[in-house]
Amino acid sequence: MDLTLDSVLAEAISRLQLAARDRHHAMHTPVVATPDGDMRIMVLREASEGLSTLRFHTDLRSPKTALIGQGAPVGVLAYDPVDRVQLRMRGEGRIEQYGSIADAAWDRANASSRRCYLAGTGPSGVLAAPGSALPDHLLHRAPTLDETLPARENFCVLLVEVRSLDWLHLTHEGGTRARFTRSQANAPWQGAWLAP
Ligand SMILES: Cc1cc2nc3c(=O)[nH]c(=O)nc-3n(C[C@H](O)[C@H](O)[C@H](O)COP(=O)(O)O)c2cc1C
Repeated sequence: MDLTLDSVLAEAISRLQLAARDRHHAMHTPVVATPDGDMRIMVLREASEGLSTLRFHTDLRSPKTALIGQGAPVGVLAYDPVDRVQLRMRGEGRIEQYGSIADAAWDRANASSRRCYLAGTGPSGVLAAPGSALPDHLLHRAPTLDETLPARENFCVLLVEVRSLDWLHLTHEGGTRARFTRSQANAPWQGAWLAP
């Protein structure tokens, strides 16, 4: 089948959707970059139909949430070494602590996924000694669901509206690359082939 811009875009979106569901998928843990030039690995939780949102979970106390707030440019970079496909995305990020998306994500999270939000010091906070900052009684066991309830105030979602997607497929012959952009979420994508 001939490669078309439409088929490449559809393939990229379904690859991200699969990656969000499969924790063994290479694109399950992309790099997320913020406007300060910093970057970090985060678990991709959902890629919506049409890529209007990528959803990540994070701790409200971490520096990136203040940086992103209600709107900031965010980059997302993922690579699948098996298929040799790189996806570079840019979009508008926003943090939601409460609301239907964050509430549903918290409700679906099991006790062991909620555990990290019980840490006494938030991500990137300074500690007097090496460690996870979890309370002593939770160092060696998962909390019960009831025990995780106070952690809800530390939990939030990062939602990224993707405005630009760059797809690169490496091959021995050199590869193929395409870029898709749109002015706002839900606007039609404009695609173009690029030199790799
Ligand atoms: C495999 C892996 C998965 C991670 N998943 C997340 C995640 O889903 N959300 C998150 O906030 N941090 C996650 N982290 C930790 C971040 O990379 C980072 O250390 C932390 O969020 C603090 O970042 P900040 O100081 O930029 O806010 C993950 C790290 C690794 C290695």
